[in-house]
Amino acid sequence: MDNLRRIVVAITGASGSIFGIRTMEALSGAGIETHLVVSKWGLQTIQHETGLSIKDVKSLADIYYDSNNLGAAISSGSFRVDGMIIVPCSMRTLAAVANGLGDNLIHRAADVILKESLPLVIVPRESPLNQIHLQNMIRLSKMGVTIIPPIPAFYNHPKNLDDMINHIVTRILDQLNVVIKTTRRWTGDMKVQNKKSTYKIQTIKPVKDIND
Ligand SMILES: Cc1cc2nc3c(=O)[nH]c(=O)nc-3n(C[C@H](O)[C@H](O)[C@H](O)COP(=O)(O)O)c2cc1C
Repeated sequence: MDNLRRIVVAITGASGSIFGIRTMEALSGAGIETHLVVSKWGLQTIQHETGLSIKDVKSLADIYYDSNNLGAAISSGSFRVDGMIIVPCSMRTLAAVANGLGDNLIHRAADVILKESLPLVIVPRESPLNQIHLQNMIRLSKMGVTIIPPIPAFYNHPKNLDDMINHIVTRILDQLNVVIKTTRRWTGDMKVQNKKSTYKIQTIKPVKDIND
């Protein structure tokens, strides 16, 4: 596998489909060969949250697979890849992977990654988490899976949503040693702490009616 940089990406039906889209953009920018599979509800959430079409999504990948295509290359360990990212990962897909189900291509490809002892990065999105979600994450973590919830950081002073998204995607790709330059990394510089704050204290009032 000399210099092979081939990564499987799965986008599932959890909120935060932009993390999957941005991950794909960053991987192509880094010259990585991408193998993309999107679940049925992954496609629905992409359309709902970003307005992108299936055609747009397909165009992000070197190879795009239908999630029902269990005969696809990534269904077999004999097709060599460097790892897999499930981003965002729904609690359904998390449960399927944690329990070794293989009834769609995402579950099967993840099962293959685990049996081949290759890196698997899971970006679970749900809030709050119940005990089933947490147990499934522990189960996978014990097998060496990296669980990286899309939690924003503030130490790098994000200016907008794009900064926050890029920071999370950078940290996801760090896990597979794909280093991209989209975010300010921590350097140990605390100088900004001494600056005068520009934060305006707000008054937040409760709503009278939940539908207001
Ligand atoms: C707009 C929208 C947002 C959703 N957000 C989440 C979520 O954040 N986490 C989650 O586990 N499921 C979420 N769901 C539910 C999943 O899409 C659903 O459980 C689906 O069966 C997941 O299937 P998949 O894992 O094959 O994509 C959401 C559904 C919709 C329509």
